[in-house]
Amino acid sequence: MDVIVDLQYGDCGKGKVAHFLCQTQKYTHVLRYNGGCNAGHTIFHKGKKFITHHIPAGVFFGVRSIIGSGCVLDPDQFFREIKMLQEGGVSTKGKIFIANNTHVITAAHKAEDKKSGGKIGTTGRGNGPAYRDKYGRTGLRAENVKSLRPYLVNLYKEWFTPTRLERSQRIKILAEGAQGFGLDIDWGDYPFVTSSHCTTAGALLNGLPPTAIRSVWGVAKIYETYVGSKEFQPKGAVFDRIGDVGEEFGATTGRRRQCNWMNMQTLERAIRINGVTHIVFNKVDVLRAVGTWAVIDKNKIMKFGTEKAMNDFIVKRLRSLGISRNRIYFSESKEKI
Ligand code: IMP
Ligand code: MG
Repeated sequence: MDVIVDLQYGDCGKGKVAHFLCQTQKYTHVLRYNGGCNAGHTIFHKGKKFITHHIPAGVFFGVRSIIGSGCVLDPDQFFREIKMLQEGGVSTKGKIFIANNTHVITAAHKAEDKKSGGKIGTTGRGNGPAYRDKYGRTGLRAENVKSLRPYLVNLYKEWFTPTRLERSQRIKILAEGAQGFGLDIDWGDYPFVTSSHCTTAGALLNGLPPTAIRSVWGVAKIYETYVGSKEFQPKGAVFDRIGDVGEEFGATTGRRRQCNWMNMQTLERAIRINGVTHIVFNKVDVLRAVGTWAVIDKNKIMKFGTEKAMNDFIVKRLRSLGISRNRIYFSESKEKI
């Protein structure tokens, strides 16, 4: 299994990395391992823009795609997305599955979240209430929803009784996380967090042993963004400019994302706790257009004269954390890493 994990507050471009890995590696499965339709994956496929909330990137390549037991699923949204993909020319038939023990987001969950989620600025998609009911042992599982029956799989059987074809190829999973380290229920800035496990460990909760992990692709942005009700963006016109140039609006709610420089300590924590082996920094082209190079290191803003000076600084820091240069990607395109 390769894991894709977001090192900041979501929206770092995991969809693009998933899309890239699906094209360059041969996976038998793509697994969405946490979160619900609070997530918004923006994917550019064959020149067309798609936004998915539930459905993993694997469907774009005809790879068996599973919404795992670490997720919560809104059946209405699920069926809307299948329709949207089909209308966009992406066939999902026989390619998209839901773990039978995935919990379901109900209409009541959504209504509650819309009413009370404002305090921390949730996406209002029913995520928190659905997870609360799961852990309160009063939730509803996908296996008990009639309309979902045709899509159900048992993850134990899926991973441990491969078909003949899969046995010869061995199972190869791409695990796609949602949200990000700074929103993680345990490691994020509580209570301004989501209700699921956004770390690499969260991938394992979908019936997979730790020894299954091969690579961990950490995804970051060269600056940070956050959507929610805490104050995040410092004063300064440059941050509005980053938001404008970077088109920083939520893929799920359309809210403007707050912007700040990349925080090196957040990044270090996320790299260590997630066991990152490869790292992609997205949206370098945005900072280049804005023309200011800076990070926050040890609570101080550190400015750089050139892009190269900043990249060198980052690479040096990452190498001290055991990530070699050829596993660090500075990406400046919407379609490739
Ligand atoms: P919830 O996940 O809808 O409960 O929202 C909790 C917090 O996580 C809010 O600050 C949301 O804006 C944020 N959030 C949830 N999902 C995403 C995402 O996919 N990208 C960015 N922020 C998110
Ligand atoms: Mg997103």
